[in-house]
Amino acid sequence: MPDTNAPSGLLDRLSAILGPRGLLTEPGDIAPHLSDWRGLYQGAAFAVARPASTEEVAAVVKLCAETGTPITVQGGNTSMVGGAVPDESGRHLVLSLARLNRVRAIDTMDMTMTVEAGLVLKAAQDAAEEAGCLFPLSLGAEGTATIGGVLSTNAGGNTTVRYGNARDLMLGLEAVLPDGSIWNGLRRLRKDNTGYALRHLLVGAEGTLGIVTAAVLRLFPRPRDTALAFIAVADEEAALGLFRRFRDRDESAVRAFEYMSGIGVDLAVKHIEGVTLPLETRADHYVLVDLASSRPDAGLRGLAEDVFGEALEAGEATDGVIAESEAQAKKLWRIREEHPEAQKREGASVKNDVSVPVSKVPEMIRRCSAALVELIPGSRPVPFGHIGDGNIHMNLEQPEGMDPAAFLARSHDIMDCVNAIVRDLDGSFSAEHGIGRLKTDMMEEWRGGAELAAMRAIKAALDPKGLMNPGKVLP
Ligand code: MLT
Ligand code: ZN
Repeated sequence: MPDTNAPSGLLDRLSAILGPRGLLTEPGDIAPHLSDWRGLYQGAAFAVARPASTEEVAAVVKLCAETGTPITVQGGNTSMVGGAVPDESGRHLVLSLARLNRVRAIDTMDMTMTVEAGLVLKAAQDAAEEAGCLFPLSLGAEGTATIGGVLSTNAGGNTTVRYGNARDLMLGLEAVLPDGSIWNGLRRLRKDNTGYALRHLLVGAEGTLGIVTAAVLRLFPRPRDTALAFIAVADEEAALGLFRRFRDRDESAVRAFEYMSGIGVDLAVKHIEGVTLPLETRADHYVLVDLASSRPDAGLRGLAEDVFGEALEAGEATDGVIAESEAQAKKLWRIREEHPEAQKREGASVKNDVSVPVSKVPEMIRRCSAALVELIPGSRPVPFGHIGDGNIHMNLEQPEGMDPAAFLARSHDIMDCVNAIVRDLDGSFSAEHGIGRLKTDMMEEWRGGAELAAMRAIKAALDPKGLMNPGKVLP
């Protein structure tokens, strides 16, 4: 076996633990694990370990601890910030959780589901549905992203406004700690105040404090009444005004509330087959309102019609459509879901996953848009996303005709420009995508002082050799 960048004899010992299916060493087999889908990073690794049980994960981690081998942990490799790819040194072992993908248990009295880290999010949703329940976490990459990944990054997505982030959907965890010990915290308790909440330390740690191998997730009653509206609104304030109207009428019914700019919808219509504008005339601002209730008689369509009517009268809404069928609802959701792909096809774009207090979203969008166009004349701001959480993807599309590489060379200027305004509005430079590799250099400025010092102390205590996902999260 080639043993180039691996400590001497390590590959043979890994092979003994993992067997032939559990260890990839051929360059062609390893290649898909070395780059991110955004194309930001191209790393290197001497092998990819694919353990099939928690015990195998523990044995691999123990061996890496003994030999001082850095580990890059990988789920579905859908990180937006390069969080799951190794650096260029070739010294890393990539540890993929893909084979750890069983549903271990579902309990419809406790309303919990115990699943392994490599289970794809969509498969978790399907398993919940088969049991007559709902696992509500929902995001664009759900067909590829895994439970371990969404927990390790505390992913948000479309339904945070109603169900919270991944953290809020987790009751217990099982993890392998950096010394190779297995921590079984798979408790399905709603109340468990027993010292430091290790589970919450690991959620959002992006694999830098240990490897999540399984989790107890919260289930919810399945929706029995739904309604979906795609509404053109006058401006950003009107989008928030509409959010408030729905929230005031029935907060528990709002499952998602998403904002889209005119240009974002234009790009989706231009580039994505089957995506069409459902209204007669184009607008500069739109929202997608998704209502759901477990009560079959909730009357959500009536609610949507009432609120839409009120908003039209108030001049907040200018046009809109309420889905007549499940198929039409899916079609309307696609306009929003295809935003990232459409932006990719249009050319180079820079993502700014930021959040501000909900009330500040209109100001943030307007100030950032103006500042970005001033920074790069001809560039096209495409703000969209989870306005109900104050989380907007303040993305910037390159000017038409500009060299994509020249535009991307300005990435950090673009992020700095947005971040300065977000900071002024008491926001965050990473709302739901995490820090990964892309944003480590922002940590000092944003989280420096006592906060970063505490994070470093925790890292040093749990991972003194610095072998877990090095180069991620902490600068
Ligand atoms: C989304 O909500 O679609 C993604 O988080 C945003 C993005 O691709 O920038
Ligand atoms: Zn998002």
